[in-house]
This record gives sequence, structure tokens and C-alpha cells, in this order.
Amino acid sequence: MFILGINAVFHDSSACIIHDGKLLAAAEEERFTHIKHGKRPIPFSTYELPFHAIDYCLKIAGIHINDVDHIAYSFNPYKLLGKHAKAEEISLPLKPNQTTKKDWDSEWDPLFLSLIVNAPGQLADGYPHHLQKRFVGATASPAKWHFIDHHIAHAASAFYPSPFERSAVMVLDGRGEKATSSYYIGEGNKLEMIGEVCMPHSLGLLYEDVTTHLGFLHSSDEYKVMALASYGKPVYLNAFRNMIHVDEDSGNYTIDKIDFEEVLGAKRFKNEPFEQEHFDIAHSLQKVLEETAVKLSNWLYKETQCENLCLAGGVALNCVMNAVIRDNTPFKNIWVQPAAGDAGTALGAALWVDINERKNAQRYEMHHVYWGPDFEDKEIEQFLQWTKVPYRKLENVAEETAKILAEDKVIGWYQGRMEFGPRALGSRSILASPVNASMQQKLNEIKDREDFRPVAPVVLEEDAGEWFEDAEYSPFMLFVYNVKEGKADKIPAVRHVDNTARIQTINRNQHPLYYDLLSEFKKQTGVPVLINTSFNTRGEPIVCTPRDAIECFWTSPFDALVINSFLLEK
Ligand SMILES: [Fe+2]
Repeated sequence: MFILGINAVFHDSSACIIHDGKLLAAAEEERFTHIKHGKRPIPFSTYELPFHAIDYCLKIAGIHINDVDHIAYSFNPYKLLGKHAKAEEISLPLKPNQTTKKDWDSEWDPLFLSLIVNAPGQLADGYPHHLQKRFVGATASPAKWHFIDHHIAHAASAFYPSPFERSAVMVLDGRGEKATSSYYIGEGNKLEMIGEVCMPHSLGLLYEDVTTHLGFLHSSDEYKVMALASYGKPVYLNAFRNMIHVDEDSGNYTIDKIDFEEVLGAKRFKNEPFEQEHFDIAHSLQKVLEETAVKLSNWLYKETQCENLCLAGGVALNCVMNAVIRDNTPFKNIWVQPAAGDAGTALGAALWVDINERKNAQRYEMHHVYWGPDFEDKEIEQFLQWTKVPYRKLENVAEETAKILAEDKVIGWYQGRMEFGPRALGSRSILASPVNASMQQKLNEIKDREDFRPVAPVVLEEDAGEWFEDAEYSPFMLFVYNVKEGKADKIPAVRHVDNTARIQTINRNQHPLYYDLLSEFKKQTGVPVLINTSFNTRGEPIVCTPRDAIECFWTSPFDALVINSFLLEK
């Protein structure tokens, strides 16, 4: 049985395909179209389906869209249609803000929801011409199409692929249909909701609004606010605390609306310099998020009496918050869906339909994120020859690449199947040695990033505990750890100002060549750590194809590109 998962409603549009419970492929649309996040989360863009990601998934499965048994779409418009759910038609007013508010939760709902309800038709008719091979003659059978509650899709993406037989589950995101935070207990194949918080109260939207106030792009740059927070003081903490009211008996919370300019000062605009108050705002926001997440987690623990916790939703990409939950709540084990943002809801929706369609189905456990496109040596070499780009074939990729890295050169590393989710984890990465402190600055310059941004390390799994406090297994860069005393001066480039590092651990089963590279680097330098940052230029999605990689390499000031077995140098 083939199940196609689609996330299309807001942003980070994506697709995945599952065959008899096994994931075959998953990817974000942005990697194919070069439009970061696929699209902006606005009502006008709701009709856009991730056709390229779907096409890629169908290609890996070797099937046409009509061969798919079920299609799982990670948003349920019927939760918002209310009394209009059974209507034959609705009105789409020319000026939504004037005429429709009394009938709908939001004035944009008629447009937004009609585009979602018509997604099956769009799938059948709206595909781009160059993808017709797998879409022409598509039928939009209602029996195949499942609208899945957005938060169920997030929760399923967290629990079903986790290693836990029984677990508490918490979803924190901007918003779904109405829910903004939700809680579940998962056991075996069962996933049961035990509470939710609904619009307009949303920790995710609060973080997004402050992201905008600080001059960043919301639904995109929240991780920059998290990095900024380390440089600030809790000057505005009480202001944020006074806004958020948590009911520790029910897991519910409310957030007061405030005028940010009145409380936090004037909005910063993009490209304006950072002042201390911006660091302080970010710090205070981050702290209140952590405090609130701990309160909600404690309530969830009390309610479920379970030592395992699964997290998803865009807020769960906040690796500092995740570490605070890890260190300050009774939960013993935490698993975070690596594609915790909306991209992962394609997977969650598909797994939910799979579990419901194939009773007693074996759950799929997610050990890695390498579910995107890859390219063979032959194909890459043909492309290199055609472009007349100078290259040479390496005899021993790990050994020779480690040598280049040990010379303090910055390389593009392009190996195997592309990552699913927002982090580059060794398939489409820029790598460098962490031994010299100046490398952080150099990488920020190379990638044209803000100075305050830290760079993150990858470490051999077996050595993680020796270099980072209490680190064992953290393959998805979703938690920070303190750099161990006595090790900090050996890897100064990856140590953030607060002595933490957002680590990725790697073992050989996850990515053999990447692991071998780390082992070789350790052999040559004594350090089992490399800097790993995403292979892209500012504002661009992570590279997908060899052409993307070579274009990025030749238009960025890094020193070498190792693409499969081939080395390109400047
Ligand atoms: Fe979401």
C-alpha cells in the first residue's frame, strides 16, 4: 500500500511516500524550486502544492500518482468550516475585511479554506507541464484523500517514528486549524489527545511576532532570535511573564495581547544595527518560552506518568528550549522529530493514515533523515565534464578530505541522499575544522551571515560524552550541550558565547562516509569534531542537485567541494 503525505497549507511544503509502513522518500519543495520554505504562509498561496517533491517521491516509488492508494494532507479544513462544512457553495467577497467577519473565525477563511477543500482538484489539474509524466490523467478520488488535523499530523510525526512504545507527546507550533499547542499519550499504535490550547493563544505566534519586532522574517528566522538571546539580559522578562498565564492544573495557557512598541521599544528594521535592547528582548523572550515549556511539560508528566516525551511543531526546533526541558523536567528520554516544523506533518499525516488503514501495522522507526535525492558518480562525472569544470577523482574520499580540512580549508560536502528537515546533517553540509577560533568568523563571512550566529559541531557518537557534558546520542542537532571543561580550547570555533554547542552525533549506520571522514579527521588531528553548517548561500535553500552544489561553490568563497568521489578546488 502506497501512502503519499503532503504538507502544503502554510509553508515548508513537503511530500513523503510510504510503502507498507516503510518510508521510501521525503523532501521539502524548496530544494527543487529554490524558493526558501516553498512559499510564504499567506492565504493566497494555499493552493500551491509541492508538485516537485511529490514527483520526486513518486519517482523513488516508481509509480504514477494514480497508483497511490491514499493521500494524506496535513490540514483539516472542515474544522474551520463550521456551519459551512456541508454547504454547496460559499461567497468569496472582494474585500474580505469588510463583509465576512461575522460568519467566519477569520476574514480570510473563505478564500483560505476553499483553496484547501479544492486541493484534490489542484493535484489533478495544476501540475507544471514538465512534471506531466507522473501526473497526466490524475484522478482526484475522494476515497483516497484524507484531510488530517494539523496537530494530529505533528503528533504522529513525533510519536510513531520515535523509539518509544509508550510516550507523552507535546506539539508546540504557530497554529494548526485552531490548536496552537496540544498534548497526547501514545501507546503502541494508539495516539490519544489529552488536551489542547487554541487560537489566539500561541507560544509559537508570540515568538514569531517578536521575531518580526526584531527585524527578522517570521516563520523563518526564529533560530536567529534564539542565537541572539545568548548575548542578552532578562531586562524584559517580567513584561513577558506578565503576559503569559499558565494553568498548571490543565496544561492550558493564555497570552495577553500587548503593544510591543509600547513595552519593548521601537521595532528594529532589517539591516539596522543591533543594540543591547535587541539582545535583551531576545533573551527575555527565550527565557519565558523555556519557563513556560517547563511548566507545560511538568503538567504533561503529571498527567501521563510517562518517562518518555516526544516533541514536534516548529517551536520544537528551538534546541535551547529542548535542552531546558531535558534538564529541568522529570522526563528521562526525549525524542524530537527532526522535521519538527510543518514539513514533518507530511510524514505524520502519512503515518497516521498508514496506522489507521493497516490495522496492527508495524511502526516505522526513524534513525536518520537521509530521504532525499542522491546522484551516482557516473551522472556527476558526466555533468562535471559537460561543464568543463576542473576536478579530480579521489582514491580515498575520507582520508583526503580530512587532510584538506586539517589544513583549515572550508569545504562543501555533498554525499548521498539529501536530508529531510531544516538541518544539514552531513549530506549537504559545509564543513571546517573547529580547532581555530577564527573559523566561526570566517564561516559567517563565507556564508554572509550575521556575526552573532554560532556554528555547530558534528562529533563521533562514541566520543560525544568526552567532549560535551552528558552527550550520548543526538543525531539531529536538536539539543544544546555544554562543552566540557578542558575541551573548550581545543574546539573554540564551535563553542557559543554561553559555552554551549548544538551538536550532531554521528554513527556509522547513519551515514558511513560522513562517519569515516570524522574518524579520519580524528586520526590526523586528535579531534573527533568538525564544524557542520548547511550547504547554501544566504537566503537560499540547502542545495539539492550537483548543479546547485557547483553553482553555490563557484559563487561562494569556500576552498573546495567534495562531491561524491570528486574533488573541485579553487
Ligand atoms: Fe504546524
